[in-house]
Amino acid sequence: MIGLFDRLSRPLLRALDPEDAHALAIRALSYMPVAKAPADGEELTVRAFGLKFPNPVGLAAGFDKNGQVADALLRLGFGFVEVGTITPRPQTGNPRPRLFRLETDQGVINRLGFNNDGAATVHMRLATRRNAGGIVGVNIGANRDSTDRIDDYARLIETFSAVASYFTVNVSSPNTPGLRDLQQAKALDNLLARVIDAREKVRPRSGLTPVLLKIAPDLTLSELDDIVGVARKRRVDGMIVGNTTISRPGSLRARDKAREQGGLSGKPLFKLSTRMLAETFVRAEGAFPLIGVGGIDSGATAIAKIKAGASLLQLYTGMVYRGIGVVTEIKAELTAALKRGHRNSLASMVGTDAAAITAESWPS
Ligand SMILES: Cc1cc2nc3c(=O)[nH]c(=O)nc-3n(C[C@H](O)[C@H](O)[C@H](O)COP(=O)(O)O)c2cc1C
Repeated sequence: MIGLFDRLSRPLLRALDPEDAHALAIRALSYMPVAKAPADGEELTVRAFGLKFPNPVGLAAGFDKNGQVADALLRLGFGFVEVGTITPRPQTGNPRPRLFRLETDQGVINRLGFNNDGAATVHMRLATRRNAGGIVGVNIGANRDSTDRIDDYARLIETFSAVASYFTVNVSSPNTPGLRDLQQAKALDNLLARVIDAREKVRPRSGLTPVLLKIAPDLTLSELDDIVGVARKRRVDGMIVGNTTISRPGSLRARDKAREQGGLSGKPLFKLSTRMLAETFVRAEGAFPLIGVGGIDSGATAIAKIKAGASLLQLYTGMVYRGIGVVTEIKAELTAALKRGHRNSLASMVGTDAAAITAESWPS
């Protein structure tokens, strides 16, 4: 049923304006009954941040920005779902058009700008599903017109700690002017200190909620040195590498769309994000696990991310081009790869190629 719906709906969705197609997909997922995907094999289990993931394939932030369809997505077979980015107050984001498909490149450019329903509404939604189980992370960010961005993050931690399986501190969206400045060492140190404080403050009532840091793929390696240093010092539970890129690889074929401002995702992001993942892995030295994201659209790209240093994976754009079936395909290929290598868990594959990747010439 899922496969049939997927095959029929994809051409229709692709014929629509990308943002209308996304709204329709969210509606369909919230109203249509979704059959539960078969249970995952034990070999796909991943333990990280004190959580037990049934499989490593997660939905990246930005698809379910408002926490409307997390349960449907979990039923479809994702091992975890990240909702958001959520800001304290609702905001409409940038003017449309702000979402572009680069069909020939299997990429997307977005400059949505944290359009979301705001913390109160999304919190209510997540509170009603609190006992439904499954891993649902909450990705948090600052309002565009905030006068104290660090305070926005701290307040969101307090608001969502009882309903979030983990938090992602998003300082890497290119679409909120100045947000990426929070990746600079001193600002990041202040931010993470406040975030961890807020997490400790609510710990007695909510338990310990893991905090992950999501970074941009556009950092210099010396900026990455600083960021990983601060993340280790502040003892974050993990990092997500990474967000969309403001760079435009020379290989892009959709030349005029490529000129649109915003963050590029999907296939053209794969090489750069995988390189940054490996660079982060060698700097983290096992201090915390990493989530690899950027251009995953097959079993082969998923395995490459794991070998570059990812304990867990996330995807978004791959689902736009390949449909929801890509999740089942990736899981089957991970199981097959484990069998071929006579391994019983993915953990032994994590980072095996990282050092070699960091020695390659920089991806262009
Ligand atoms: C339309 C769109 C909206 C996104 N919104 C967010 C967001 O709100 N917060 C965030 O941290 N990342 C956001 N992202 C980035 C994704 O979570 C992911 O990091 C990036 O797209 C790379 O993965 P992919 O190549 O599998 O899409 C968005 C991506 C897309 C395509």
